[in-house]
Amino acid sequence: MNFSELFRKKSVNQSVANAVAEQGSLHKVLKVRDLTFFGIAAIIGAGSFSSLGEACFSGGPGVIYLFIICAIACGFTALCYAEFASRVPASGSAYTYAYVSFGELFAWIIGWALLMEYSIGNIYVAFSWSGYFANLLDGMGAHLPAWLSYNYTSAHQAFIDSSSGAKEFAAKRLVAWTTAPQVAGLRIIFDLPAVCINVFITTLVYVGVKESRNLSNTMVIIKLVIIVLVIIVGAFYIDIDNWTPFTPNGFGGVMKGASAVFFAFIGFDAVSTLAEECKNPQRDLPKGMINSLVICTVIYIVLSLVLTGMVSYTKLGVTDPLAEIFRLKGVKWMLFTVSIAAVVAMTSVLLVFQMGQPRIWMNMSRDGLLPKRFSAIHPRYKTPGFATIITGLVVGVPMFFTDENFFLDLTSIGTLFAFVLVCGGVLMLPPRENKPDSAGVSGTETGTKGRFYLPYINGKWIVPGATLISFVLLHHFIPGFIGDKFNLSLGNLANALPMLVFFILCIAMSIFSFLKNFSLIPVLGLISCCYLLTGMAPANWLWFSTWLFIGLVIYFTYSFRKSKLNQKGPTF
Ligand code: ALA
Repeated sequence: MNFSELFRKKSVNQSVANAVAEQGSLHKVLKVRDLTFFGIAAIIGAGSFSSLGEACFSGGPGVIYLFIICAIACGFTALCYAEFASRVPASGSAYTYAYVSFGELFAWIIGWALLMEYSIGNIYVAFSWSGYFANLLDGMGAHLPAWLSYNYTSAHQAFIDSSSGAKEFAAKRLVAWTTAPQVAGLRIIFDLPAVCINVFITTLVYVGVKESRNLSNTMVIIKLVIIVLVIIVGAFYIDIDNWTPFTPNGFGGVMKGASAVFFAFIGFDAVSTLAEECKNPQRDLPKGMINSLVICTVIYIVLSLVLTGMVSYTKLGVTDPLAEIFRLKGVKWMLFTVSIAAVVAMTSVLLVFQMGQPRIWMNMSRDGLLPKRFSAIHPRYKTPGFATIITGLVVGVPMFFTDENFFLDLTSIGTLFAFVLVCGGVLMLPPRENKPDSAGVSGTETGTKGRFYLPYINGKWIVPGATLISFVLLHHFIPGFIGDKFNLSLGNLANALPMLVFFILCIAMSIFSFLKNFSLIPVLGLISCCYLLTGMAPANWLWFSTWLFIGLVIYFTYSFRKSKLNQKGPTF
């Protein structure tokens, strides 16, 4: 194996021509409004209806700072996605972008990391969906037995917590443990609604009931209307005393919610998987992505202020915070309404991601990195049937063995990792030959009028200057902070290491920006995403590294050899 072969690249024209040849039959019907709605369909889901509770619990009202940081990181990243979407109007999202900028090895890594976002993330969404679905059933007077309402791991954990005398254990999950039937000594406990929704969504996607424009748009309207209703009704119950103190657990407490809050933003990038169904991808994809991100950011900030204003943040450490606030205030009709919105919102997230994953696998398979079956199209339903079933299994099987929080963190790490590579990828792109609005990539039928063009702001002085000023301010306002991060004694290592690596990255980016005149926006995207990565727990890094290692083993034992770029002759 020649080392340089690991970085063999597909050209932009290859990617686009390949897409045109393979998927010429897709209908080009989507416009900016549809793409914006599609983005919102993918973004607002379990993050806002579920994980937001834990983030408010650990950070207090100050969690809005985290929303702002995540919005900035995602905003810069969205601009980088937009630049790629404008240059490479082909499906495959970040995987395809990495193939043209970094080369095959990184494309594989990003495809592998995206598996976290699109499939593993859906496990968390399905568990959250189940919680709200149970609320709905309760509202209708129907009750599922506890042992069919929770996953085995969390019920077992509740049992351990209760028997070790811990004060905080989930009472309902403990009931699941104590009442579960046993077969050969093994307790039968699983989350039946989560399993069922996965089977339902997989079947839908398999038989080709695509998230049609109208279905997706209707779901988005329902969730937006109800969230606005939550904000309006909730505003009447705000007690501003609940906002004091604003950051009860300091900034460390705020950062504890990093993976939960970031999870709430995941999804704007899924818009880029629709490149081949857009009327004018180079103009509309960027707009759709950025519009949906801005709308959701505003909603999230207002929503978290309402939540933490209605009740003390200490009451929000639950998995259904939007229902909990109305439960605590005795507003029963809102409880039911919120549950309906949550079920609809999360169904749309499940649908979007469960469609996105087979599409990425399809692209990887077409490039030879996965077996051919992953790109096989079902003769009757015209969907990537095999890839869809595998996606269903990847989402469904782990539901029996783990709990939701594990997947939340893993999804956030995997997605941030992919975002870092996308921002880095933009830095590797050659300068544009064409001016904005001039002719597009040859071989596409798409128009190029109004095509997105990432503004180039030279980071030569700004990046080193901003880094230096940040260090000085940190040192001045939080004495000892920087020194603490450079203290690598054994007891301090887990605390110091992520920030130390981040500092080193900032210094490296400053040097490279100075030497190579890096474009400011991708550099800021890369730095802000890396900052969010410092908020992830060390144990999850270990899991993520193991995951990456498995991916690399597959690449070197299979994909490298089978890659179309490894074959002789013109393959693309
Ligand atoms: N952002 C999506 C959600 O919150 C993944 O469900």
